[in-house]
Amino acid sequence: MLSSMLNIVVMVSGSGTNLQAVIDGIREGRIRNTRITGVISNNSNAYALVRAEKCGIPAICIAPKDYGSREEFHRALCVRMDELNPDLVVLAGFLVKIPPAMIAQYRGRMINIHPSLIPSFCGVGCYGLKVHEQALERGVKITGATVHYVDEGMDTGPILLQKAVPVQDGDTPESLQRRVMEEAEWILLPQAIDMLAMRNK
Ligand code: GAR
Repeated sequence: MLSSMLNIVVMVSGSGTNLQAVIDGIREGRIRNTRITGVISNNSNAYALVRAEKCGIPAICIAPKDYGSREEFHRALCVRMDELNPDLVVLAGFLVKIPPAMIAQYRGRMINIHPSLIPSFCGVGCYGLKVHEQALERGVKITGATVHYVDEGMDTGPILLQKAVPVQDGDTPESLQRRVMEEAEWILLPQAIDMLAMRNK
């Protein structure tokens, strides 16, 4: 018998295919000892919110535009996170800077997935499709994905897992993004959560 389940909150901004990979991983037993207790989006139109609701996972939007200042937005995020009180925060395509107070509170308990082999193609302004545009521009033959702990820097925290993906002739940013998701991200993020959950039991 597993003693304590790992309660996770997933933070999202967009389509939520990585969230879906986590939901499926839990359902199919590839992620053990884990439950998603909440999904937080900064974007009310994020399809990720629909994915969560379809599975009965409490999902809320906390959008910067609904608050008078960045500080108020940050406070609202922190208050909601404190209410959910997760063991692990998972950034799955969450494209907003995390409040410093939240980083400090969840140090060693917050992970992010990034669609490159860090330290290549990461840092401020390098996210989503831009990562793959830059990789193609530079002409790398291998790219991939990284799951890392979150610290105060942008994509600078300790690396947990990485998976390489070959670039193919004729790749576009879109085709490369899709292959990195299919061959790396959707495998790696569930693996990382399972690894941490099994350490936690
Ligand atoms: C994913 O490729 C994720 O790695 C990336 O955003 C996409 C979200 O897709 N994250 C970053 O670039 C973070 N720097 P999804 O909403 O379909 O999971």
